[in-house]
Amino acid sequence: MNVLYITANPKNVDDSYSLRLGEHFLNEYRRLRPHDKIEHVDLFSVDLPPLDKDMLSLWDKHSDIEETHTNPFVEQFIQADRYILVTPLWNMHAPSQVKAYIDQLIVPGKTFQFTETSVEGMLSGKKMIHIQSRGGIYSEGKLKGLESANSYIQTIFSLIGVTDYEHVFIEGTSTYPDEAEDRLKEAKESAKQVAQRFSQDQS
Ligand SMILES: Cc1cc2nc3c(=O)[nH]c(=O)nc-3n(C[C@H](O)[C@H](O)[C@H](O)COP(=O)(O)O)c2cc1C
Repeated sequence: MNVLYITANPKNVDDSYSLRLGEHFLNEYRRLRPHDKIEHVDLFSVDLPPLDKDMLSLWDKHSDIEETHTNPFVEQFIQADRYILVTPLWNMHAPSQVKAYIDQLIVPGKTFQFTETSVEGMLSGKKMIHIQSRGGIYSEGKLKGLESANSYIQTIFSLIGVTDYEHVFIEGTSTYPDEAEDRLKEAKESAKQVAQRFSQDQS
């Protein structure tokens, strides 16, 4: 298996709940599948170009794509079997680098194709886990349902065929800083269980 470990946080690991949780998950995964190849994509240390005119013209042409564009990010993504995406919640979303990365991955003729009436994902048999840290509480209370980063990420990856998706999060790191370490401990427990499922060959 080829695994992409994709992180979107400029902090040092020790200063970041999402990266600490991400590393915990990765170590657990490595323990379960010691022979898999793991590549790290640090979205804060790569150059993510904006969509250019040529790329946009592919979208205009719709079903008439004769020659498709490519880029190193989408090629690397297609080659991988498993994705671990680690993000903090910033201003109610993932860092903008995540969106810029996704713009490199959603390529007509590479990861999805247009059909008569809609679009169809071209990837299959892949799995993704999204590991997220957020300062507030969104799983219950007055902010319940208002967090859109995770639902966006799940939706956009399902569009290209990555439908086997799980989410592990720590929340309340800003609202309840004194509880954050305990919350991280709990999240690590969930991550351990998700790693079991994630490491299996079949979903
Ligand atoms: C630029 C910035 C924006 C943030 N925006 C939000 C937000 O909209 N909602 C929220 O609940 N927490 C927000 N936070 C708090 C972070 O989600 C929280 O600190 C989280 O633990 C960050 O992950 P990390 O510890 O891995 O860096 C924000 C933090 C920063 C630095």
